[in-house]
Amino acid sequence: MSDYVVRPSASFRGRIDLPGDKSISHRSVLFGAIAHGTTRVHNLLEGEDVLATVASFRNMGIVIRKKGRVWEIAGKGLGGLRSPEAILDCGNSGTTMRLMLGLLAGSGVTATLTGDASLNARPMGRVIDPLRSMGATIFEMTETRSTLGENIRLIEVRGGGIRGGAFKIPMASAQVKSALLLAGLMAGRKVSVTEPLKSRDHTERMLKAFGARVKVKGLTVTVEPVERLKAQQVFVPGDFSSAAFFLVLGLIGAGKGRLVVRNIGLNPTRVGALEILKKMGGRIRVLRKKTVCGETVGDLEARPSRLKAVTIGGGLIPRLIDEIPILSVAAAAAEGRTVIRDAGELRVKETDRIAALAAELPRFGVSVKERKDGLEVTGSRGTLKAAEGNSYGDHRIAMSLAVLGSIAPGTTRIRETDCVATSFPNFTALMRKVGAKISETQ
Ligand code: S3P
Repeated sequence: MSDYVVRPSASFRGRIDLPGDKSISHRSVLFGAIAHGTTRVHNLLEGEDVLATVASFRNMGIVIRKKGRVWEIAGKGLGGLRSPEAILDCGNSGTTMRLMLGLLAGSGVTATLTGDASLNARPMGRVIDPLRSMGATIFEMTETRSTLGENIRLIEVRGGGIRGGAFKIPMASAQVKSALLLAGLMAGRKVSVTEPLKSRDHTERMLKAFGARVKVKGLTVTVEPVERLKAQQVFVPGDFSSAAFFLVLGLIGAGKGRLVVRNIGLNPTRVGALEILKKMGGRIRVLRKKTVCGETVGDLEARPSRLKAVTIGGGLIPRLIDEIPILSVAAAAAEGRTVIRDAGELRVKETDRIAALAAELPRFGVSVKERKDGLEVTGSRGTLKAAEGNSYGDHRIAMSLAVLGSIAPGTTRIRETDCVATSFPNFTALMRKVGAKISETQ
């Protein structure tokens, strides 16, 4: 287990490129595997989560190779997967497990899925229940690994029997929405999914690009049967969720800092944090905007700013759900009390992020009140101090605390930071490149 040791820096400067978007990377592998022909993916995120998706498809007979810097997926069509011999290990990745459950339920394949301790504790009923109501056969089992005494969850899917239909899901979730749509697509049935608020729409956009028949009307997405999907060339933009750590670092740094993150995905369903940081008074500019593979991409520039508190809630939440940990760091460096509400989904992410932030931020001298559905963070610039923090094995908590440690006087230590490799393997290298004083110790 490695820890981060972080000391404050006077200012942060530089231009950096970030690894590929995690959501888009998963989908490029998934859709590549079920398309006809070879899909070529540029800037695929080589984080553990996406590699878990890659390994799962290899176990189902799909050849996936890296040639130079490009990943090639030799798709076998909608009916081309074979039942794996091994258990599919989704690691820490909720996206892998949930999308795969839907995809397999609609296929002719029988497979067993599991994950690490965090993933095995996350709710899967939100996907399994609607899939069962569509006709899927799914069993959940718990097995005790005698050597470790730890319980692991196994989920067996026996593909087949999926009926089409219209489904209403109770939460805004791109993973649940995608799982149901993929079950229909694989089974050749028309499926509509309606969510209460719009979640990220990468599935809809990319499926369309691969030749699927996708219709979006308000909060309802419909996918109609097609005979085949066609392989594509995918250029994965930089991950906005990774960029957010550097944007906040650029804003809360002092002096003549200037950070530019290049070629970042700016899909409107993802960039709620950009709106919030601007509303907080953040000096952020979007430069060189263009469209690549149906997604808006641009460079983002952040300069030191006097931030002020805001209220974050309602329909904006799904558009910034993964950025709430780093937004609460921005709130800690702002003036006034920031209220984050309607964000109960944070309790079922890689860890309970509300509880984690409410426990960790005060160690750094930040005044925080835990709410059932969020947090209240009072700007505490004057009382910030270095601390020993815990990641709870959650990559976004680890990186958020590293950013906070980069302005907090003294030497900060953050425990258990290996988890950062799930989404952002070169995080510390890029932090150092822009002037942060961060090192990894065993
Ligand atoms: C993701 C969807 C989001 C997000 C997660 C990735 C995806 O979860 O938090 O990190 O790639 O579909 P929801 O399913 O709750 O929207």
